[in-house]
Amino acid sequence: MCGIIGFSGSTDAKNIILDGLKRLEYRGYDSAGIALQNGNVINMVKTSGKVDNLVAMADADTKLAGNCGIGHTRWATHGVPSDVNAHPHMSADGKFAIVHNGIIENHAEIKNKLIQKGVKFLSETDTEVIVQLLDYYYDGDIKKTLVKTTSMLEGSYALGVLCVDNPGTIYAAKVSSPLIIGIGAGENYFASDITAFISHTKNVIDLEDGEFAEISADKITIFDHNFKEIKKEERKITWDVAAAEKSGYEHFMLKEIMEQPAALKATIEPRIKDNKVNFDELNIDIKKYDRILMTACGSAYYAGCVGRDVIEKLCRIHVHTEVASELRYRDPMIDEKTLVIVISQSGETADTIAAIKEAKNKGADVMAIVNVVGSAIAKLADFTIYTWAGPEIAVATTKGYTTQVIVLYMFAVWAAYKLGRIDEKQLLELTKDIKRLPERAQRTLDLNTKVKKLADKYHEKQSIFFIGRYLDYAVCLEGSLKLKEISYIHSEAYAAGELKHGTIALIEEGRLVVAVCCYEPLLDKIISNVQQVKARGAQVLALAVEGNKKIFTEADDVLLVPKANELFMAAVEIIPLQLFAYYVAKNNKCDIDKPKNLAKSVTVE
Ligand code: AGP
Repeated sequence: MCGIIGFSGSTDAKNIILDGLKRLEYRGYDSAGIALQNGNVINMVKTSGKVDNLVAMADADTKLAGNCGIGHTRWATHGVPSDVNAHPHMSADGKFAIVHNGIIENHAEIKNKLIQKGVKFLSETDTEVIVQLLDYYYDGDIKKTLVKTTSMLEGSYALGVLCVDNPGTIYAAKVSSPLIIGIGAGENYFASDITAFISHTKNVIDLEDGEFAEISADKITIFDHNFKEIKKEERKITWDVAAAEKSGYEHFMLKEIMEQPAALKATIEPRIKDNKVNFDELNIDIKKYDRILMTACGSAYYAGCVGRDVIEKLCRIHVHTEVASELRYRDPMIDEKTLVIVISQSGETADTIAAIKEAKNKGADVMAIVNVVGSAIAKLADFTIYTWAGPEIAVATTKGYTTQVIVLYMFAVWAAYKLGRIDEKQLLELTKDIKRLPERAQRTLDLNTKVKKLADKYHEKQSIFFIGRYLDYAVCLEGSLKLKEISYIHSEAYAAGELKHGTIALIEEGRLVVAVCCYEPLLDKIISNVQQVKARGAQVLALAVEGNKKIFTEADDVLLVPKANELFMAAVEIIPLQLFAYYVAKNNKCDIDKPKNLAKSVTVE
């Protein structure tokens, strides 16, 4: 959940690292730090708070100079956010400085052993054991010491190391946490993710688990634990630096909401051949499975709930959904006839990775729907479908979610055809309906000004309910999560028919209920739920499909979205809910792109 960066070149490393940390800040933002090597000295500045605090301190520190260094932005796991717990961590003799993303599970055991040998610890972090081990084992050979140290560690790490005896060189190692190496001209980088150095280079090497890197300004050597050099393929990042910048928008979230039509198009088009959805390249024998288990976390899970309903409807195969953080504790009924579909924007989510391992142990095939190319989840799965959303920086996912939903629609249609549940004519028609969705999403964005006004009206509400039925209910789950995570307003999503079984007790004068009424076959049902809450004093903001006149007599406010195939409305109707959450949060002066207590990639359990 933290972001790390390393740089070696011939220019001053300070600004490059600080700029990289700002770009990585979405990964964690409770403290930050930087260490630069200047000849045989390592100087370090670190502080609690956001990267801007660090920038101010680093700018004022004249000793902080050098062409080589490491940086870190933290999401606290072990030890409160504080100056002393911030990374880098340095050995007492000043010989080593390290940054770490991950969790060292056996840190307590290592710490106890080192304390018995007289080593003094300063912080409460799990990370500090790494730097103390390096110092303890060091015999003048950093590579040997690094291999020995990491062999003692259990858990996950992406590690960056400076050693005073090796000026101009940064070292990296990784197990189960992301680390990518950037190849520049006369300068090289490592980072948790490409956004950190995309403005400098698009040429990268993916470091794999168990590999080590020795990086100087003009040389990168990758080696294994036997010090055997490993030849690595270079890869070129296809997206542009602007994709990871705000480009005039006040927040990444708004930019990413607006990018959805393009992201949907980019995700749909490569999967259409002869006007038909086509996933043949996956080489999945879909007839082999008698059930599908969909698992993911947060918004990705809610995308899975939409996918469950559409796959079941079109394919007539049983689909079960389960949050990935629970899956492994249930001894789930999974076998080789189960296709497990995992969904993840980042491709790094620890709970989702654990669910994949559980599924594989039980003999299932795993298909991953992932946005980040080459991520851990993409590599672990048997089949991978990428959502071509481009980089998503705001912690609250928007285009990540809608592209996941689109992939699930396409997979449902393709699988239904392969299973003989729909004929070629239906395949062509459903493909056409999917191809229309980017345009529908674009028209939905025209609601921007209207949604903003509604957010002005309702932003002071203490609690907001979202109700819907069937597919609309799945969208309510996501709409409610969006509002909670960025505006901190209490919110619940309910299957509208469930209200009368308890929750309606919470409906009182002035309570805002957002009623999603887009699945038209159930319109009368949801309208009767709207009447029930109105009768108890609620204010109702309804979301309905263009052409729906009835809703105006029932709701206080109405947002009409363009009509699409009723099975595929989620990708459209979520957009006003994203905008609503955004403008409510903006009215309430929340830190929209970096909501409190959250981080973009959740790499801890
Ligand atoms: C979404 O807005 C959240 N920040 C969060 O629920 C997220 O969707 C979840 O943590 C899963 O992340 P992933 O898609 O990267 O696996």
